[in-house]
Amino acid sequence: MNFAASKGIVLAGGRNLRLHPITIAVSKQLLPIYDKPMVYYPLTTLMLGGVREILIISTPKDTPRLKELLGDGSQWGMALSYAVQDEPKGLAHAFVIGRDFVGGDPVTLILGDNVFFGSELALKTQQAIANNRGATVFTYPVKDPRGFGVLTHDADGRPVDIEEKPATPKSNLAVTGLYVYDNEVVRIAESLQPSTRGELEITDLNRVYLRRGMLDVVQFGRGMAWLDTGTPESLLEASQFVQTIEHRQGLKVACPEEVAWRMGWITDGELAALADSLQGRGYADYLHDLVANPDADGKNDAY
Ligand code: G1P
Repeated sequence: MNFAASKGIVLAGGRNLRLHPITIAVSKQLLPIYDKPMVYYPLTTLMLGGVREILIISTPKDTPRLKELLGDGSQWGMALSYAVQDEPKGLAHAFVIGRDFVGGDPVTLILGDNVFFGSELALKTQQAIANNRGATVFTYPVKDPRGFGVLTHDADGRPVDIEEKPATPKSNLAVTGLYVYDNEVVRIAESLQPSTRGELEITDLNRVYLRRGMLDVVQFGRGMAWLDTGTPESLLEASQFVQTIEHRQGLKVACPEEVAWRMGWITDGELAALADSLQGRGYADYLHDLVANPDADGKNDAY
């Protein structure tokens, strides 16, 4: 198993207006996707990429709640730290907030509401981090790309343009909320001008890499799931998707205790102790069963 030199950022801020009134008092990333808080999903995606040192950025109100949920990460053999984004100033603003955390290292950003699932996920993320030259984005085919960054590429698969939420998309390839960067990203983010909506746009940042010929694209194929969670319908669909998989397989999706254990970051004994510390029997029993029967997943790496 490769371990990434890259640090990670989970950006869990935003007003999430499309989910009002659900998100008036609590941020979206703390809402459940079936049996786990939403933030477990992006967090475990970074973990599967081998990223162990992660900064969680959220609102003044929800940062303490995320800290209560996730702690300092040591229970999972990781280092988690926290920073506050006072107002939604854009996704690229994460690198301005995270400048000291990033230091001189490469960094992988994931949006706190992005749910990925599939057997390509761990390997493609690890490879993208290991091979990154400047920036790497991940695309996913969607029926209606108008709500996303949309990538167009030439006949050789080289990226030509990224447009943010185009009214008339030129392709069906949405740019997902997982981005791998070299250390230049901090300087580039700091040099960006706010867009008309007053935010530092991730698409503007990615376009700087594109202009420099330093943007690589990894395609997640149709065998992968990349799910939306921004509306009541998509939130419910994401829960139903996870429920369906988990119920059928008896294996959990995005279980940080399991991922930490399978990555070799915690021992059998530490996993059993985590299970003992949980009150909810279903989840705790699952963790206990893993130690007893580690090959129940048939060595399949879709978590
Ligand atoms: C953001 C990005 C967009 C990307 C999407 C992925 O949009 O601006 O390019 O496709 O995340 O989740 P948002 O969902 O924050 O409007």
